[in-house]
Amino acid sequence: MSNPVPHTLAALRRAEAQCTRCPLYRNATQVVPGEGPQRASLMMVGEQPGNDEDLAGHPFVGPAGRILDRAIGDAGLERSSIFVTNAVKHFKFEIRGKRRLHKRPDAYEIGRCKWWNDLERRLVKPELIVALGATAARSLTGKSVVIQNVRGVLLTLDDGVRLVITAHPSSLLRIPDHIDRQRQYGAFVEDLRRSAAYLGTG
Ligand code: URA
Repeated sequence: MSNPVPHTLAALRRAEAQCTRCPLYRNATQVVPGEGPQRASLMMVGEQPGNDEDLAGHPFVGPAGRILDRAIGDAGLERSSIFVTNAVKHFKFEIRGKRRLHKRPDAYEIGRCKWWNDLERRLVKPELIVALGATAARSLTGKSVVIQNVRGVLLTLDDGVRLVITAHPSSLLRIPDHIDRQRQYGAFVEDLRRSAAYLGTG
């Protein structure tokens, strides 16, 4: 008999903890479910938990999370009112020496994990979703997108939910030049600010 569809976030978290829908659960420490209010007008979707998130069991608590938190504040938003999640719920990595290095999830893993994201959307009923980076954009639209071509633009998903695609905060961490990094951070904050302005206008 198939398991019942979870009707609360707590039930969803319990179901996610048992997930074997793709092989990533085998090496990860634990599943990292989405977090935030049961009803949130804004949902943010990242790629997948990183090393820190895998250990803590919470999304965006490592270096990318710190940039995201700062940008959320600078955009005039509050993280506590946003449902923050990932397209893929287990950390995918390869071992290099003593380090676990992030590996990008593939189309199969993204597709298998969409099951959980669809359930999150059914429960949280966001008015607007912000996709952070290409993996989240792919999970939400079913297509490969070039972030620079679509960022900050208000899009509509098949079910009518509105979508804004922007950069992944960890891409900012990889920019070596300080001035360039500041510029890209400003563009990221601007995308979040626009997203905040779209809320309540649909
Ligand atoms: N990167 C993500 O996409 N999600 C996290 O939770 C942390 C880093």
